Amino acid sequence: MSSTPITAAYPALRLRRTRATAWSRAMHAENRLHPADLIWPLFVTEGTGVEEPISSLPGVARWSVDRIVERAKEARDAGIPCLALFPNTQPERRSDDGREALNPDNLMCRAIRAIKDAVPDIGILTDVALDPYTAHGQDGLLDASGYILNDETIEVLIGQSLNQAAAGADIIAPSDMMDGRVGAIRAALEADGHRNVQIMAYAAKYASAFYGPFRDAVGSSGLLKGDKKSYQMDPANSEEALREVAMDLAEGADSVMVKPGLPYLDIIRAVKDRFEVPVFAYQVSGEYAMIEAAVAAGAGDRDALAMETLLAFKRAGCTGILTYYALHAARLMG
Ligand code: PBG
Repeated sequence: MSSTPITAAYPALRLRRTRATAWSRAMHAENRLHPADLIWPLFVTEGTGVEEPISSLPGVARWSVDRIVERAKEARDAGIPCLALFPNTQPERRSDDGREALNPDNLMCRAIRAIKDAVPDIGILTDVALDPYTAHGQDGLLDASGYILNDETIEVLIGQSLNQAAAGADIIAPSDMMDGRVGAIRAALEADGHRNVQIMAYAAKYASAFYGPFRDAVGSSGLLKGDKKSYQMDPANSEEALREVAMDLAEGADSVMVKPGLPYLDIIRAVKDRFEVPVFAYQVSGEYAMIEAAVAAGAGDRDALAMETLLAFKRAGCTGILTYYALHAARLMG
């Protein structure tokens, strides 16, 4: 940022002048949050008429396909442009190779089709990674030593992406952190006629302690052995995040994501300053749960905490934010 020379001094200069009234604060705001900035993550589960609360994620539930369609209508009516879907796959459909991800009638595909049918004007972003489908809870295929195989996993991710695109997904969001998957998925989408299906790469995704409640929500937490540090990024690193972003953009990503959000605002800003591309952040499950715990403990006001964090993402340079507060925040703004 270039510095502006200050020509006046106190008392001619009083920075509090423009802050004195609400109208003036509104007029001088450098960043604004809008419902169109928000992407709403939703968890889908089997059955009809089902709402399953997730205890580690207060206020968030898994919904059956029929009920997720209701959520999609609420989102559209609140001005939210896009949903991010995650499936809670039945245990008997999970396997070591995650092959349920390739089933054209899996829970994800049924949810995508139902939403596209009823609410065609809302975008659908789909997560590409194998963790909701594997019996071991890892995002990819394992070798005998338990190491996650890169190139073999990409072959399955290509199939998963084409399966989601065929069902009607608008944005494919690979969250697996395999090297080279964006290019491979882009090539497969082009070859399969999905020219306008976007890719939002989870480019800088960290091996974070903030994903716990999400793993409860998709039912992988009890299954997961070990950690994801051999593919997700080390929280110590920032230069590496820029290399990850550069690599995904070179492979054809339309937009990139930084995840988690609030502890990584420095990464968002660095990516925005370096690359002229849309940058999204994921305010992840543990961040949401942390705010909810603070609210429950009487340590803060939900609306104020949520809106301040979401605005902070905009200030850091985000084009948009994936947040469990999306509907609540959009309605507060409405
Ligand atoms: C799956 C995936 C995860 C999240 C989004 N996609 C979990 C993980 O990598 O273990 C986390 C989202 C959240 O915590 O809200 N690869």
